[in-house]
Amino acid sequence: MTTSHNYDPSPEFVRQAHVQGMEGYRELYRHAEQDPEGFWGEVAAREVHWFEPWSKVLEWNPPFAKWFVGAKTNVSYNCLDRHAASHRKNKAAIIWEGEPGDQRTLTYQELHRLVSRFANVLKAQGYQAGDRAIIYMPMIPEFPVAMLACARLGITHSVVFGGFSAEALKARILDLGATLVITADGGWRRGKEVKLKAAVDEAITECPDVRSVIVYRRTGSDVAMQEGRDHWWHALDQGVSEECPAVHLDSEHPLYVLYTSGTTGKPKGILHTTGGYLTQVTAAMKWIFDLKDSDTFWCAADIGWVTGHSYIVYGPLSAGATTVIYEGTPDYPQYDVWWRLVEKHRVNIMYTSPTAIRALIRQGDSWPDKHDLSSLRLLGSVGEPINPTAWEWYHRVIGKGRCPIVDTWWQTETGSAMIAPMPGAVPLKPGSGTFPLPGVAPDIVDFNGFPVGPDREGFLILRRPWPAMTRGIWGDPERFKEQYWTKVPGAYFTGDAARCDQDGYYWVLGRVDDVMNVSGHRLSTMEVESALVKHPSVAEAAVVGKPHEITGQAVCAFVTLKKGEHDQEKLGKDLRQWVAHEIGAFARPEEIRFTDALPKTRSGKIMRRLLREIVTSKTVTGDVTTLEDLGVVTQLAAQQDEE
Ligand code: WTA
Repeated sequence: MTTSHNYDPSPEFVRQAHVQGMEGYRELYRHAEQDPEGFWGEVAAREVHWFEPWSKVLEWNPPFAKWFVGAKTNVSYNCLDRHAASHRKNKAAIIWEGEPGDQRTLTYQELHRLVSRFANVLKAQGYQAGDRAIIYMPMIPEFPVAMLACARLGITHSVVFGGFSAEALKARILDLGATLVITADGGWRRGKEVKLKAAVDEAITECPDVRSVIVYRRTGSDVAMQEGRDHWWHALDQGVSEECPAVHLDSEHPLYVLYTSGTTGKPKGILHTTGGYLTQVTAAMKWIFDLKDSDTFWCAADIGWVTGHSYIVYGPLSAGATTVIYEGTPDYPQYDVWWRLVEKHRVNIMYTSPTAIRALIRQGDSWPDKHDLSSLRLLGSVGEPINPTAWEWYHRVIGKGRCPIVDTWWQTETGSAMIAPMPGAVPLKPGSGTFPLPGVAPDIVDFNGFPVGPDREGFLILRRPWPAMTRGIWGDPERFKEQYWTKVPGAYFTGDAARCDQDGYYWVLGRVDDVMNVSGHRLSTMEVESALVKHPSVAEAAVVGKPHEITGQAVCAFVTLKKGEHDQEKLGKDLRQWVAHEIGAFARPEEIRFTDALPKTRSGKIMRRLLREIVTSKTVTGDVTTLEDLGVVTQLAAQQDEE
């Protein structure tokens, strides 16, 4: 996988970069290594406005960290007020396009006013610091407005991706103990309306603690409004003051909880707090995106995932950038919609996922070739390993050989990018995230926690706390300790396998646990299995990720049925739909395979490894001596051969 071809940054790029040449990177990294707390203290003082200073940079009671202890700040203030009071006051904060072609541009002052008004609306509804809100919105400007208004008051938000179903939404509302839901009537996706309010209605029939539902009118379609509980955003917003001072919050105040898949059927609420998170995401804007005041920055993710939190909303706005938000998908109405937007808004930095790149490669070069992409100066990739072929295409066809590509490795839990090149410093190797950012201490170890050394595969761990690290799993400190901090004592276990080459470049290879990565979305095998076994016809289910050319992995489910007559073709369709209903359309299995039994160990554990081998290689080679019934495997493999 290591290619011999390295890509050095061009002398022009280096000349204008924040960090120049390998020496520049090494010096910064060394400085951070010598005194990590001193280093982060300097970064925090430079990048963030604090109302009150900290008494201590870090309090570390493994695995629980407190950063900038005792300091007071506010994320919304840092994203808005400080820019609205500067030369950036009339700079575009958000350039937005809706899927139907509608467009809005909000300057820092305008965004500040919208957020202040909405924060006043929330206050008038009786909400305050410590309350919890669910945000379930389409990709419209009011989505970040809602987040920033919550942050302004200290209301902890949890964004639920609009692709999640009512069932998934309900589970999150209940786990978080939310009393407020902010949503819209619907949003547009590939020309169809995604009905968000209807899903909220279905979800909250069993959520008695939700007092208010605030609904933004986006599509104008009919929705049911329950008297006393449901309110139109525009009605509450009438005559509201545009002054709303940001609350001085503790550095460790919970900013948001974002649910992600773990290795059990229950999603975990990853908690992020205020000061440390803001410090690191803001610094990353300069380190990895080499951000300048003149840049138009576009992270083409959905705000519903961590990438959107950190690099559509909080990072770019805190850094005073212009951030582009697009409501739709890259394939609608045509495959050139992204390139049309790059040309139209003269986008300088574009950040997306390998899945999107691979899907676009398939459509051919004529789509990007129709557009003037000369404004681009830097490209980014996130969410999964990028295969060198996709990397080369991105570099050649989109970047015209001119733009460095920053392949950024990180996770919902890390909050901010951790292993990623500084583009003016590091020669790139396609497929490698290159080196750790300053203050980040990764290592690759074996089962016993010993470093494996160069060119060997092992588990990727992080040896030292970092400011944007998760502060834990909402309501479940034990699970947090157990899942991340016990595998290698004293270190954070990422769940990823990786290798470091002779030159010190990191190559992240993928998950080592029961987490699939479908189109860059994390999905646990158990979550899909629990959804399937809820179906009245299903006896047992085992789910594995199957390699997929475009989406990286696809969901493949092995299902045994309860006794009785079944129309397998119809049931296969029903089950796929069922999973979409239980979790969301993106979790729909690509394939359902019916079988009489599942391979199990003598202790009754489903042997997923074998199933994975069946879907990957068609042959089963591993150790099967613990199998209860070898015949099952033979039968499943034979079924594959017939296809
Ligand atoms: C994978 C997304 C290789 C990895 C920000 C990680 C990557 C999981 C990369 C986190 C990358 C993310 N190269 N693998 N550049 N970026 N991953 O929480 O397996 O949605 O553990 O955060 O995605 O996914 P999550």
